[in-house]
Amino acid sequence: MIRVRVPGDKSISHRAALIAPLASSPSVVRGLSDGVDVRTSVRAMRRLGAAVECEEEESGLTIRCAGGGLDVASAPRLDCGNSGTTARLLAGILAGSGVAAVLDGDASLRSRPMRRVIYPLQAMGARIEYDGEPGRLPVRLRGRATGTLRTLRHRGRVASAQVKSAVLLAGVLGRVRVEISEPSLSRDHTERMLAEMGVPLAFDPGRTGAGEVRFDPSGWEGALGGLRMTVPGDPSSAAFLIGASLLGGRTVRVADVAANPGRIGFLSVLEEMGAGVDRDPAPAEGGEPRETWTVHPPDDLRAFSIGGDLIPRVIDEIPLLAVLAARARGRSEIRDAAELRVKESDRLAVLARTLGKLGVAVEEKSDGLAIRGRRAGRLQGDVETRGDHRIAMAFGVLDAAGDADLRIDDRACADVSYPDFWDALEPFRDVPRPRSSPRTGRVIAVDGPAASGKSSTARRVARRLGFVHVNSGLLYRAITWWALDRGIAEDEPSIAARVPGLDVDLVPADDGFEVSVAGTRPGPGLESAEVTARVSAVSALPAVRDVVLDRLRRAGRRHEIVCEGRDIGTAVFPDAELKVFLVADVGERARRRLHQRAVPFTDDDMERETRRIEARDRLDRSRPLSPLRQASDAIEIDTTSMSQDDVVDAILELAASAFR
Ligand code: S3P
Repeated sequence: MIRVRVPGDKSISHRAALIAPLASSPSVVRGLSDGVDVRTSVRAMRRLGAAVECEEEESGLTIRCAGGGLDVASAPRLDCGNSGTTARLLAGILAGSGVAAVLDGDASLRSRPMRRVIYPLQAMGARIEYDGEPGRLPVRLRGRATGTLRTLRHRGRVASAQVKSAVLLAGVLGRVRVEISEPSLSRDHTERMLAEMGVPLAFDPGRTGAGEVRFDPSGWEGALGGLRMTVPGDPSSAAFLIGASLLGGRTVRVADVAANPGRIGFLSVLEEMGAGVDRDPAPAEGGEPRETWTVHPPDDLRAFSIGGDLIPRVIDEIPLLAVLAARARGRSEIRDAAELRVKESDRLAVLARTLGKLGVAVEEKSDGLAIRGRRAGRLQGDVETRGDHRIAMAFGVLDAAGDADLRIDDRACADVSYPDFWDALEPFRDVPRPRSSPRTGRVIAVDGPAASGKSSTARRVARRLGFVHVNSGLLYRAITWWALDRGIAEDEPSIAARVPGLDVDLVPADDGFEVSVAGTRPGPGLESAEVTARVSAVSALPAVRDVVLDRLRRAGRRHEIVCEGRDIGTAVFPDAELKVFLVADVGERARRRLHQRAVPFTDDDMERETRRIEARDRLDRSRPLSPLRQASDAIEIDTTSMSQDDVVDAILELAASAFR
């Protein structure tokens, strides 16, 4: 039996991040999802002036909110990234609190429907305009005085927890009565959390079929109490590992998962497919039931048929169920699921196209799919994820355990909900990977002394290969920036004590990675003179090195990278597929440095710069911790009399033979 745990539930984590800061007393919530989406919610609340501290712990993120709500009358553009939950719930929070702001998101989020949430908020009197295409992000909320919203009775056409939550939050924060009914019950995490925080709501948590919730502020003194809870594991993440275990014919136990009835419809579908599911309840927390599940595979996976009220309760698991259907006996049917067309991608179209290309008989309908399982034969081909995390993970499951060999174009998109997914999938693989390394991508390590041209070379090599450029110096600078910001840059014991729990990571940006630290992206602040003066001392602290090493390796597990620094080939990625060590005469390095500054320089300047670089070389080579050293298997390139184009070409040639 394989035993696993999964990260904190994404839906509950979003709500904790967005609602706990609105309380009037302090909150502590542990075990939040550390995916990019939830971090986006935390960042947005901070930009709205909410007091939220965030710490990374073994069990996930911990947030501490001082309470007191939002502290701004208007905010600039709030970037909701890829996250529909962030955008839609924030729309309700802003409307209810009368704060003006612009909500925006990435290309996928900009293509998703917003009218379903904007329209009821407008009906309550919120002043909202579309800044771009009507019905889509970006939207502009114009503030208004609190207490001026109107009561609303909203009958939703689709079952959507995000719409229901937005209207509820607007009602609660604007202190007006709202009633929401939906054709089928969607997940009720917002209701449970608000009730836990003392808000008078009428809803039936045990109900299936149509759903209804009412908020009536009469007689309520209007303060949300603080929230204390640990977020249970994410059933939608668990579903992928359970799916892999079923395909591989293995039993799996998933401990401590959220068992909210609005989320676990897929368990009954797995039972229909012949799996045995044992559910072991644990005490509820924060109003959310939790369970440990043991799932036993059947001898033979059978087809299933789903539709109607069940759909909102399995909505995020349908990509996984579709790949299971591709290996099940018989014809599976998914109906009433047109909502899948407006998720992070048009999931019905992407599933139909991809399964079809793999040779599975699939029919695409306007609101569903019919899939005839292909029982025998290896499934081979390319998977275009469209940047959709659930598509990447569903086909990842098929690739790992379904006798398939798939090239998935974007594995990193799993980061929005399950950053360690690819590692978590390893134990479920039917055939062990040929390489023992747990990395999924290839790594090129570029080391060398100061001013040897590492950065520009590494960036260009990465661009030419379609790899991601990673500069270890960014992380050291970010930690130094944070220490300066917190006033502890000179206090080394204090840095060492706090850095292990620090929320610092590389986050994908347009060109490589940006670094985010304690919820902020310092950007150009990383290059400030203060940071430059302290970075060497801060990076010599072992606790700092440990954190940087961990983040770099994490990037290497998820992406194909060109990583540059001083100890990449020796300490960070001793198993890199290719290691190059760039050297150049010290005089030439001094000349390049001065040249870079683009101002005329004299012989004296040259002399001074040469001495500075020599001193830095001595320091780098002699420091006790990870000194600058050439790995025995690194290829040295002396760039003294080479143009940068030649250096890049030389590395590309080495890469071509290393990757053959
Ligand atoms: C979510 C609700 C669902 C779901 C999404 C998360 C939530 O979307 O698909 O992944 O946290 O409220 P809809 O509300 O649009 O159905």
